[in-house]
Amino acid sequence: MRILIATASRHGSTRELGRWLGTSITDRVVGDDTSVEVRDAADVDSIAEYDAVIIGSAVYMGRWLREARSLVAREQTELETRPVWLFSSGPIGENTSETGPSKWDKAPWAIDHRVFGGKLDRSTLSRFERLVVRMIRAGDGDDRSRDDIDAWADTICRSLKAGSENHSDQVSD
Ligand SMILES: Cc1cc2nc3c(=O)[nH]c(=O)nc-3n(C[C@H](O)[C@H](O)[C@H](O)COP(=O)(O)O)c2cc1C
Repeated sequence: MRILIATASRHGSTRELGRWLGTSITDRVVGDDTSVEVRDAADVDSIAEYDAVIIGSAVYMGRWLREARSLVAREQTELETRPVWLFSSGPIGENTSETGPSKWDKAPWAIDHRVFGGKLDRSTLSRFERLVVRMIRAGDGDDRSRDDIDAWADTICRSLKAGSENHSDQVSD
């Protein structure tokens, strides 16, 4: 089984979440005939060769980044034919949580959509981003949790295992 984790990140923290998830899933499937690839969404031309896909994006002004949105739009038909999980990364403290990526909550083809805490480091932001952050009174912080990622990796691996057992039952029937 080939698993793709594709992330869209402007300042690197969502990319890192993707890597944590990749490591966590890899640790759980050791010995199985499974490989996990973690890539930037912008570098993914096609998902056809993957059996399961996880797509994550940072949230800016209530929206996923364009690279993630266009991957989903481009691969919509393929996404509907395999297990897909989505995650968003954004909220820090209380001030950024109001604008959620609610559109993706309703993606009927996705098994789950999780919202993970994000990371904000004002020293890395553009002048415009710093202005926005000041307007919404968000402070620096890192609300990402490796434990949350590990727990989600558990859920994903259990679901994939159950799916492949069902599939082999059907093949042997
Ligand atoms: C200009 C700006 C706008 C943001 N807007 C939102 C938002 O609407 N909702 C949210 O939950 N987080 C928002 N955030 C927080 C980011 O999603 C968070 O910092 C995230 O971890 C950044 O991910 P990245 O490092 O992968 O780019 C915003 C951050 C900035 C700098």
